[in-house]
Amino acid sequence: MNKVIIDLQNIRKIYKLGMVEVEVLKGIDLQIKEGEHISIMGPSGSGKTTLLNIIGCLDKPTSGKYLLKNEKVSEFDDDKLSEIRSKYIGFIFQQFNLIPQLNVIENISLPLYYQGADEKEMREKAIHLAELVGLADRIYHRPSELSGGQQQRVAIARALANDPLIILADEPTGNLDTKTGREIMNLLCKLNEQGKTLLVITHDINIANYSKKIIKLLDGRIVNEN
Ligand SMILES: Nc1ncnc2c1ncn2[C@@H]1O[C@H](COP(=O)(O)OP(=O)(O)O)[C@@H](O)[C@H]1O
Ligand SMILES: [Mg+2]
Repeated sequence: MNKVIIDLQNIRKIYKLGMVEVEVLKGIDLQIKEGEHISIMGPSGSGKTTLLNIIGCLDKPTSGKYLLKNEKVSEFDDDKLSEIRSKYIGFIFQQFNLIPQLNVIENISLPLYYQGADEKEMREKAIHLAELVGLADRIYHRPSELSGGQQQRVAIARALANDPLIILADEPTGNLDTKTGREIMNLLCKLNEQGKTLLVITHDINIANYSKKIIKLLDGRIVNEN
């Protein structure tokens, strides 16, 4: 039985807009075990990105308890949050979020650069990761010289650079055609089979069906789990 690495208990998130308070997450309980692949579905505005950002330590809950690897991150300050984020979390976004001026190896190296890694070590690791995602022959290309699918492969390699515990993907196929989206999901599933825990937000049931477990979010609440 794999162990729980992410444990959310009664997580609430309230945004204050002037005088108005909007409760975006209304008591989320969710446990994720090491090695799982889970999809989160739900209509636009249901709180999916907010939830993912809290899980990824980019944002803090207003109340509730969040344990990541048994560390009580819901009580962490911003510095400790960013430290634990760079240690445990790999993010992938719909818009790829690559740096246009940097080539493939430089983009992949970025998380290592921020950790102050040795330059040679960084380069070797980036080349290895480029090979892993099928971009061995593109390492000096800039993002604008790559297709959408190739850019998302760079983003996946970058997400892997710090050997994260979990990959969090927010609509990773949202900007890709169906065939390319399937290729990206096959790559993510391969990484999951090799042991990476994977959490994917999508509003496409075909993408969600790559995982055994689908969580549906509606108006800030989990409405069913299967
Ligand atoms: N920084 C913010 N300030 C105020 N409201 C926000 C902020 N981020 C998100 N929201 C609101 O929270 C709700 C959920 O947003 P989000 O988590 O992005 O939903 P989803 O990803 O499911 O589309 C939306 O109504 C959105 O307007
Ligand atoms: Mg969203």
